[in-house]
Amino acid sequence: MRPGRFITFEGGEGGGKTTQVALLVRSLEKAGISPLTTREPGGSPGAEIIRRLLVEGDVGRWDALTESLLHFAARQDHLTRVVRPAMREGRWVVCDRFADSTMAYQGYAQGLGREPVEALHRLVVGSFVPDLTLVLDLPVAEGLRRAGLRTSAEDRYERMGEAFHETLRSAFLDIARRNPGRCAVVPAAAPVEEVHRAIVSLVRERLDVPLEACDGPGS
Ligand code: TMP
Repeated sequence: MRPGRFITFEGGEGGGKTTQVALLVRSLEKAGISPLTTREPGGSPGAEIIRRLLVEGDVGRWDALTESLLHFAARQDHLTRVVRPAMREGRWVVCDRFADSTMAYQGYAQGLGREPVEALHRLVVGSFVPDLTLVLDLPVAEGLRRAGLRTSAEDRYERMGEAFHETLRSAFLDIARRNPGRCAVVPAAAPVEEVHRAIVSLVRERLDVPLEACDGPGS
């Protein structure tokens, strides 16, 4: 059995990750691959409960370490109950955010630093590494504008201010620079179909899978 691959999507707010995850999944399905689609924080019943503590409420409700522990608690549940079992069965997994988000949001933008996040990462994630991480990048003002068009109570991180989001953008770019074999930066200000085509090319080349782009939503 050829092992499944683990693909993660990362980036700041309003980059269109959720749309791009759905489009990539359709392309994979057309190629005969039926991936598990999941997300963080969340993706398992327990982690979805923890998610609510993180994405709603006052901006300052947690300090950066508490917040990181909550994200890693959610990740432990998600990995143990959903992701690792699926991969043991040889399934592909496409995940909307993963551990790079904790490094970028809590480690860099909330100021906890790399070391505490790396320590928690070793404990929970160990040597489990995505095969490919797609970092959707776009200017902060555009990302926040797009995110502001959504009407969702899950806007705690969106409210963290422009300086926070500028640091966050640099953080994801720095993470991508440090991990060139795993990460690819995808310019995400372009139209949805163009971003999708760029992602499909990257997956085709990096993971050696014959993949074609979908024509667009609904096709
Ligand atoms: P989402 O809006 O992309 O679903 O993600 C929820 C929020 O959680 C998003 O604003 C980023 C944030 N987040 C962190 O701060 N740390 C993490 O480890 C993860 C996975 C997400």
